[in-house]
Amino acid sequence: QRHSSATLGLGPDDAGLAQAVEILRDGGLVAFPTETVYGLGADARNGEAVARIYEAKGRPSFNPLIVHVASLEAAGEIAELGGAAKAVARVLWPGPLTLVLPVKEGSGLSSLVTAGLASVAVRMPAGRVARRLLEAFGGPIAAPSANPSGRISPTTATHVFAGLSGKIDAVIDGGTCRVGLESTIIDLNGTPRLLRAGGVPVEEIEALLRLPLVAPLPGEVPTAPGQLASHYAPKGHMRLEAESAEPGETHLGFGPVAGDLTLSATGNLTEAAAQLFDCLHRLDAMGAEQIAVAPVPDEGLGRAINDRLRRAAAPREEEAVSAAR
Ligand code: TXA
Ligand code: MG
Repeated sequence: QRHSSATLGLGPDDAGLAQAVEILRDGGLVAFPTETVYGLGADARNGEAVARIYEAKGRPSFNPLIVHVASLEAAGEIAELGGAAKAVARVLWPGPLTLVLPVKEGSGLSSLVTAGLASVAVRMPAGRVARRLLEAFGGPIAAPSANPSGRISPTTATHVFAGLSGKIDAVIDGGTCRVGLESTIIDLNGTPRLLRAGGVPVEEIEALLRLPLVAPLPGEVPTAPGQLASHYAPKGHMRLEAESAEPGETHLGFGPVAGDLTLSATGNLTEAAAQLFDCLHRLDAMGAEQIAVAPVPDEGLGRAINDRLRRAAAPREEEAVSAAR
């Protein structure tokens, strides 16, 4: 377990980057500059490290995170790069463009990074410090913007310290971000869609794709996938706050409530967050039709876990429709 009581300031030189790599390998959190905004990075293959991102940001729900890579080849190890993806990536990567693509089988990504979805958001940043960090680390780095939840994105190391000091292990100070605005996000699963306007003008992408992008209406805030029906939920019916299981129910445990499988036998919320989506997928694989879920304390990461569980337990669209009839 890491202690983030003092946040280290690192220089963007070899020594600073080596220390950052060591912290990331150890499951810690490092904020680093990209050309868009500062990102809060963790090893994308380490579920507990990724869980700490949500904890540090105080995010009340698990939105999927952007995975940063050093090369097109590295992108191809975690995502399926179709023709459209290659066409835009060859021209616009490295740069402020994020592509949402099918996750590659055997990617090794933590399921918390994708929030259990079958797609992953991938970006090859252009910022020099970000690129050197990714190369030195040699693996995918999950990073949302390095600000507390609900606050504006940081474009200097000073902004990061102001928001997250004491909650993360280190900040690499690489000066002011060149673009200062988050990446443009395009969903390339099926018909290309614009999910977020950002650093690359939409027209440039449309020209490369030779297609208009289905765009949000003017002034419309793109919907976070956490709010969408397509967000992962198990097939079975879920009952929450269940200290014990009824006959026929499969019990998902936590802490003292053992269950048939458990989010965390020791009642550790970081571990539970890291296990959550894997557990939901395993319940599907087990064919569980009635699922009872043990109570999870509504504090720290427990709030995000409970938010996710409540969404997964909410009546499904077809159920809601038949209930309204
Ligand atoms: O410029 C940027 O993109 C910065 C730097 C650090 O790279 N990162 C950033 O991350 O803005 P964040 O977490 O603040 O925003 C990521 C957005 C969220 O709105 C999330 O919902 C969306 O990307 N996203 C991530 N994975 C997704 C997926 N699989 N499908 C759809 N949307 C996804
Ligand atoms: Mg953000």
